[in-house]
Amino acid sequence: MTLIAQITDPHLRDDGADPCHDPADALRRAFAMIAAMELKPAAIVLTGDIIDRSARSYDHVMHLLAEAPVPLLPLSGNHDRADEFRAAFAGWADFADGHLSFARPVGAMLLVGLDSNLPGASGGVDRARLDWLRGVLANARSPVILALHHPPFSTHAPHLDKGGFEGAGDLEALVRDSPVCRIIAGHSHRGMQTLWAGVPASTAIAIGHGLSLSLSGARHTPIPTTPGYELHHLHHGTLVSHQMLVA
Ligand SMILES: [Fe+2]
Repeated sequence: MTLIAQITDPHLRDDGADPCHDPADALRRAFAMIAAMELKPAAIVLTGDIIDRSARSYDHVMHLLAEAPVPLLPLSGNHDRADEFRAAFAGWADFADGHLSFARPVGAMLLVGLDSNLPGASGGVDRARLDWLRGVLANARSPVILALHHPPFSTHAPHLDKGGFEGAGDLEALVRDSPVCRIIAGHSHRGMQTLWAGVPASTAIAIGHGLSLSLSGARHTPIPTTPGYELHHLHHGTLVSHQMLVA
């Protein structure tokens, strides 16, 4: 049995100008819910946008993240700052050279965090990331859960899909017939599920603000939503995911 929690998109600001609820408070309550579980997750993967673009550093978040009741693996999002992220979280994960990807055995699974933030692009993977992932998957001896900030699949929401996902075709070819059994992402601030590259793929609801549904091309806007997170549970060879709301 392996249980992994996924928390995404807290957008922790340092100016208190949160558009909806206080994400630090929601994160603390999520940590408390996880700490109270009889069977606790082996790890929490935080799938990006740890800080909001308005924040200049990670100084205001480190004490809060250190309160995580189980090991926390941080993944970078488009609001994060790569250099500051690497410095702040050195020692939290074994980051690759040149990008902030990592691979960590968690229970009976291999958790692979793939940095989908290309310099100057909205999201995707380049040759270096693909080569790194190819090597990780070639050596994997257990089922792989692949975590990214940007969903590699089309969400059919024009504003989310606007920049595309560079290298999606190459990534899809790599994932097919690989040990990857599940793809999890953030970025959308909405819960979405689909099938991509032959495996279930999803985005999780945010622990920070929600985003309005826009299927028409209009820009989405922050909306008050109940914050939440997901639990991914591998048991008897099957992965089942639970959405958890932080009331
Ligand atoms: Fe976000």
